[in-house]
Amino acid sequence: MKDCNEIVDCVGRREFLVKSAFIAGGLVLTLSGAASVFGKTADGTDVVIPIDDKSALNKVGGSVVVDSTKGKIIVVRTGDAAFVAFSAVCTHKRGIVEYDGATKQFECPKHHSKFDSTDGKVLDGPADEPLPKYPAKGTSASVTVAVG
Ligand code: FES
Repeated sequence: MKDCNEIVDCVGRREFLVKSAFIAGGLVLTLSGAASVFGKTADGTDVVIPIDDKSALNKVGGSVVVDSTKGKIIVVRTGDAAFVAFSAVCTHKRGIVEYDGATKQFECPKHHSKFDSTDGKVLDGPADEPLPKYPAKGTSASVTVAVG
């Protein structure tokens, strides 16, 4: 019977190496993905969102909601290299707003408040405070939102 004091003896050296490589590779992919989606500058106040073929921001009118140091933010691509960003947290009772590309408005699914997507002002209640806006600039490859 095998002495299983050493994990390599129990699972076999080859199997151990293969499993270790998969675990390490998965960890690297996970960390690099998290860093690229929620990357921040050195002062921790910017959110950098990469744009690839699968990103909703790959097309004008696309939007994403991401986490930031100020809570969830919603970013909309409004042109080839034009973006807007607002707090995604509804000012009524903290629902997470969604972007409607047809009306170019943000709408809260909880009680259907609507907000202007250029300045965040309330278009329809029950919310009575605008969504805070954050500076956003980007390219076809990424967008950076300053939430500081
Ligand atoms: S929480 Fe958004 S409208 Fe009520």
